[in-house]
Amino acid sequence: MTMVWVLNGPNLARLGVREPDVYGAASYDDLVAACTGWGERLGLEVQVRQTDDEAELVGWLHAAADAKVPVVINPAAFTHYSYSLRDACAQHPGPLVEVHLTNPAARETFRHTSVVAGVATGTVAGFGLRSYELALVAIAGAPSPASP
Ligand code: DQA
Repeated sequence: MTMVWVLNGPNLARLGVREPDVYGAASYDDLVAACTGWGERLGLEVQVRQTDDEAELVGWLHAAADAKVPVVINPAAFTHYSYSLRDACAQHPGPLVEVHLTNPAARETFRHTSVVAGVATGTVAGFGLRSYELALVAIAGAPSPASP
């Protein structure tokens, strides 16, 4: 079974309590359960991790690159300024899918820049938890959940 790592950056463990008007009511545990369930449906072994630590996230990306494990990553605020994260993503052979719960392009100006997007296989943003599902579907090469 294909392994996929779903990597989450800072503040994402606080989903559900963190600005629910922006990020929704689902908790981080809900995110983990949803990704694991989608993985089972798609024939993927999904492991979900979260860290507030940039160095730890970079280390996970190095390990994923060396082991050629496909990655779904929500870099959270690191998206907008972390060149070390970008450089780590650039070493990954892919697929590496950048995801966001919200649509950063429709939010504050500082969120309009993603330093990761240019080295990602693709980006899914704005669909809440379903951004992760769509990223997993893309990695699995499966038909869209909306397909008849
Ligand atoms: C986010 C968007 C980022 O701008 C923000 O810093 C986050 C979450 C999202 O999933 O919508 O922490 O990545």
